[in-house]
Amino acid sequence: MPLLNFQFHCQAQCSHSHARAGQWTTPHGVVETPRFMPVGTTATVKGVTPAQLVDTGAQMVLANTYHLHLQPGESIVAKAGGLHSFMQWSGPLLTDSGGFQVFSLSGLRKIQEDGVTFRSPRDGRTIHLTPEKSIEIQNQLGADVIMAFDECPPYPATREEVTAATDRTYRWLQRCIAAHQRSDQALFGIVQGGTFLDLRAKTAQSLVELDLPGYAIGGVSVGEPAAFIQAIVAATAPLLPVDKPRYLMGVGTYREMAQAIAAGIDLFDCVIPTRLARHGAVLSQGHRWNIKNAQYREDFTPLDDTCPCYTCQTFSRAYLNHLVRSREVLAYTLLSIHNITELVRFTQRIRASILDDRFTEEFAPYLQPDPLPSE
Ligand code: GUN
Ligand code: ZN
Repeated sequence: MPLLNFQFHCQAQCSHSHARAGQWTTPHGVVETPRFMPVGTTATVKGVTPAQLVDTGAQMVLANTYHLHLQPGESIVAKAGGLHSFMQWSGPLLTDSGGFQVFSLSGLRKIQEDGVTFRSPRDGRTIHLTPEKSIEIQNQLGADVIMAFDECPPYPATREEVTAATDRTYRWLQRCIAAHQRSDQALFGIVQGGTFLDLRAKTAQSLVELDLPGYAIGGVSVGEPAAFIQAIVAATAPLLPVDKPRYLMGVGTYREMAQAIAAGIDLFDCVIPTRLARHGAVLSQGHRWNIKNAQYREDFTPLDDTCPCYTCQTFSRAYLNHLVRSREVLAYTLLSIHNITELVRFTQRIRASILDDRFTEEFAPYLQPDPLPSE
């Protein structure tokens, strides 16, 4: 089936690393890479309206098959005209396949060759998710990018366990490709392989042979030391095709993103900005701090005087400190707007530095290797 209206164009290649700046055309618009994507699990980036989201600079948003299947169900989303129309986000959308979310439901699930059986935490009903079912749901939801149904092994896991999960993920990918029905949706493969770098390389090569429209690296940030993430990404990303987007799943700290970009990653997603907002935590200029602290009670400056976001352009730290202490819902919205803007802007600044070939100099502090666990 020919894929329509997707094109990845590499605009600049860093001369000291694998970093690249790209322009990725999708049916719902262009994504300038590298770029951070906020997470809208249940067809909403928590607390943030679509108009506010556009203003953060976010270009692409992620939603979850698993959550939308349970509530409201894909047929209702399809009746609304698809996910773009249902959630009123007119830019590019991506849905994750549901595998990863099911695996985090410890105890309630059973993995077999056919798929995964689990009990809905909502109403206790038994649900069977297979590669075919995940693709059928994602075809109905209608995001621009859909993800293969994969098995993400836990950390730590033995080589045998990881090999079994990786081989099964490959068989599931072939079933996903066979089930996929829409030429306006790009199906991405996901490289698994745990912390075994040779398994990662072997898997990457076998996925590249399938000539998919994009590739993700999954199975990171599952409890392994930070230095392992860097090693996995460095061993995997350069093996993926240069003319296709590369997406590192579930990663969104400053250092992890900068190091992954140096290895050639283009896209990221993470719940960090909205999750931190829930706890009063602020991301700014490479650091994390809490607005609840007493020192901000009479601080009438913005969160970050270099930040163009609505929150920083409008409100003071004193006001945000007050909203958080009063447990006002607006605190959550305003901090989410700032934190999302901050991470998108971090990737935009990296992008600009790649276009000027200043990336490894300008972001050197973020590119120092993380200490190994024994150090
Ligand atoms: N989100 C974060 N990691 C993963 C992964 O390994 N697989 C999928 N499907 N989603 C993820
Ligand atoms: Zn801000």
